[in-house]
Amino acid sequence: MIPMLKLNDGHKIPQLGLGVWQASDAELMGAIKAATQAGYRQIDTARRYDNEAGVGAAVKASGVAREEMFITTKVWNNDQGYDATMRAFEASLKRLDMDYVDLFLIHWPVPAQGLAVETWKALIDLQKAGRTRSIGVCNFLASHLDALIEATGVTPAINQIEIHPDFQQRDLVAANTARGILSQAWSPLGQGQTLTVPQITQIASRLDRTPAQVILRWHIERGHVVIPKSVNAGRIAQNAAVFDFALSEEDHALIEAMDSASGRIGPDPQTFDMM
Ligand code: A2P
Repeated sequence: MIPMLKLNDGHKIPQLGLGVWQASDAELMGAIKAATQAGYRQIDTARRYDNEAGVGAAVKASGVAREEMFITTKVWNNDQGYDATMRAFEASLKRLDMDYVDLFLIHWPVPAQGLAVETWKALIDLQKAGRTRSIGVCNFLASHLDALIEATGVTPAINQIEIHPDFQQRDLVAANTARGILSQAWSPLGQGQTLTVPQITQIASRLDRTPAQVILRWHIERGHVVIPKSVNAGRIAQNAAVFDFALSEEDHALIEAMDSASGRIGPDPQTFDMM
């Protein structure tokens, strides 16, 4: 039901997954059960979300075989550097109670720290050792991507960045595509802010869909991997029911016009250095 997209290393990722930022371990037990029942196979967590143990336990409780799931986690900023990343990865796996992850990502570039290349070398070795199937980054600008590629010859499979109709990042998505990198959208619904914008609600009522479904369908048709966050079973199911309708060129034009240079909700990757 959910299409699989091919990564540049030959592995595949479901185009839609469940985001779990700000979800507690207790909420995740129900959310991941609802998600797997609705056909989700991708879960996106991070060290920083403090819920890897909850994700691991809920995936086990869901009854879906580990090999059928696509599990992502991320190394946090204060664990960057080769050795620290190796240790952080093992600690993440332990909390997840898994013996591999499908995707391991550098959470932020933190340019001021200057450790992204050393961190990337650790990810390359973890992939070689089979501990993670694929490797990638989040929140990298084109110049940050090129620094990794030039230093190691290894291109990230994914760049997970903030994308929603108010902040479409078309230049960065094009830069990812030009390098063979899939763009994964975090906060694809603009953390809920874009759901009430008239352009979206008008398209939704014409198509007899919800605003969230219109936005997620827009991401899918733009080729993004999406990870909408919800802990509500009904909304989790609704968010995955986006593969049986299509937007018109006019719909795309309306949404394209919503793009705003000031639409960013999250931090600026060039300066963000929270530890
Ligand atoms: P909830 O977890 O209560 O469903 P994003 O993925 O862009 O960060 O957006 C997540 C926010 O949007 C959460 O607050 C989530 O709340 C809400 N949300 C997720 N799916 C839907 C939906 N289908 N309709 C309305 N709100 C939604």
